[in-house]
Amino acid sequence: TSKSVMDSDCMTLTRFVLAEQRKAPTATGDLTQLLNSIQTAVKAVSSAVRKAGIANMYGIAGNINIQGEEVKKLDVLSNELFINMLTSSFTTCVLVSEENQHAIEVETEKSGKYVVCFDPLDGSSNIDCLVSVGSIFGIYKRPEQSAESTTRAALQPGRDLIAAGYALYGSATMIVLSLGHGVNGFTYDPAIGEFILTEKNMRMPDRGNIYSINEGNESTWDQSIREYVRSKKYPATGKPYSARYVGSMVADVHRTIKYGGIFLYPASKSSPNGKLRLLYECVPMAFIVREAGGLATNGKIDILDVVPESIHQRSPIFLGSKDDVNDVMAFIGK
Ligand code: AHG
Ligand code: MN
Ligand code: MN
Ligand code: MN
Repeated sequence: TSKSVMDSDCMTLTRFVLAEQRKAPTATGDLTQLLNSIQTAVKAVSSAVRKAGIANMYGIAGNINIQGEEVKKLDVLSNELFINMLTSSFTTCVLVSEENQHAIEVETEKSGKYVVCFDPLDGSSNIDCLVSVGSIFGIYKRPEQSAESTTRAALQPGRDLIAAGYALYGSATMIVLSLGHGVNGFTYDPAIGEFILTEKNMRMPDRGNIYSINEGNESTWDQSIREYVRSKKYPATGKPYSARYVGSMVADVHRTIKYGGIFLYPASKSSPNGKLRLLYECVPMAFIVREAGGLATNGKIDILDVVPESIHQRSPIFLGSKDDVNDVMAFIGK
């Protein structure tokens, strides 16, 4: 008997989210709708990242199109896509984007109960050279107190996340999602325009053999970080760790989840809080890593326990396999 070439009953992301929704007796379907709008944004960003329709956008004069306008930069376009899809989903009230100085308040007629913090396109230094980029998002419920200001509604600790995820525009496009009980990965199939569950219940190894840090900054690190990295390069026993650093957090974290190891963005002399943003980079990624069996700390406490004070605040981050994060913590504690 010949095998069918198409699975007529595959688990799509939409179907997965619907099934999860049905498990919660009180669910209204709003989160499903919200996640669908993110899915649409991700599909559009993916298409743009992969330059679909590029011929229609560029005039012969280069990046000026036939209307005489400059072709939109990918990060600007991605931000517009996320904002438009999220506000028109009727499920959000407050949006925090890396690209917007202030929190966005969704107009009353379109308002819903969720707060979304997102990085529409992560890996800006990699956009123009076609190396992997991503999107990151975290979803909270609006706090009960109706008097809460727009900004305050977004200042919730990671422990309160309802869901978090990221999209990786790599050699394939993937959405990795956690609704707070495990992590699942969905690969985009352009043939049917759906994300298909390809990585069920993702778990990361307790130890890896890769470290990931921008080593060019070594002179600005704390002594403990220098000693930790050195201990991985010159181990007392066994093989040294491999160095891998894409420079797109999503890609570096995804690899860390898949292969194990550690990703570090420590503080430096000039930026005592490191570089990465708490609300839409560190926290959602920490949530997923923890749900996959790993750890994420700012060097002092769990990233998910940090109570944010401002929407664009930064945080040092050490994230990855349990044993590897505990190793760096031992150096920091010395
Ligand atoms: P973004 O493109 O959203 O501004 O984020 C860039 C971030 C992150 O993706 C990456 O991990 C980090 O910047 C890399 O920073 P360095 O170039 O300093 O290593
Ligand atoms: Mn980013
Ligand atoms: Mn970004
Ligand atoms: Mn940026």
